[in-house]
Amino acid sequence: MIKAVIFDLDGVIVSTDNFHYQAWKHIADKEGIHFDELINNRLRGVSRMDSLDIILENSHKKYKEMDKIRFANEKNSVYGDFLSSLTSNDILPGVKELIALLKAKDIRLGVGSSSRNCKKILTLIGLHETFDVVIDGNDISRSKPDSEVFDKVAKKLGVEPEECLVIEDAIAGIEAAVNAGMMSFALNDAKKSPLATYKGNNVIEIASLL
Ligand code: BG6
Ligand code: MG
Repeated sequence: MIKAVIFDLDGVIVSTDNFHYQAWKHIADKEGIHFDELINNRLRGVSRMDSLDIILENSHKKYKEMDKIRFANEKNSVYGDFLSSLTSNDILPGVKELIALLKAKDIRLGVGSSSRNCKKILTLIGLHETFDVVIDGNDISRSKPDSEVFDKVAKKLGVEPEECLVIEDAIAGIEAAVNAGMMSFALNDAKKSPLATYKGNNVIEIASLL
């Protein structure tokens, strides 16, 4: 029985995943490092610094920690500029409808995101007071596929892992749900994962599982 639904943020609630891509592309182009959408798929759900390490795999240069911090800060500043245009119109199709349905059925609502910009984004799109629990990149030390983020959401919600359904667009996120002992609903790139419990094109399809 599903007692809680845990939403990933980027690519599930709002389509910031393309902003992440554009911001990393800006850094990679400046450094002359090859970066494309295929490599970008590996960054979904992965923390900022771990994402940078994946991008730097394609460079011959050995970067100092200082350089890496500078790149990560610059990426976040470019990303922040993209975010400033974000409004509630950017909430992805089906999300508001699903939230209303879950609330009507007394199903608890959580967000489990690797992003340190999570609370800022929820505020920009007007969903900062919607969720019972929000755990993000500031609250965890291990990013997805580690289960830490989802473990913490379930613990704070007071529900058992097997009562939680995680919604994810990242393969790493589906793996994190499995590692947490939770069910998962895969969108977009995450549908490539054989580990997903359910797969779909719009979160409102979850209504048929309740
Ligand atoms: C995840 C994104 O939600 O957050 C990743 O899928 C991103 O692409 C990660 O790297 C960290 O985001 P931020 O906002 O802390 O740089
Ligand atoms: Mg995501």
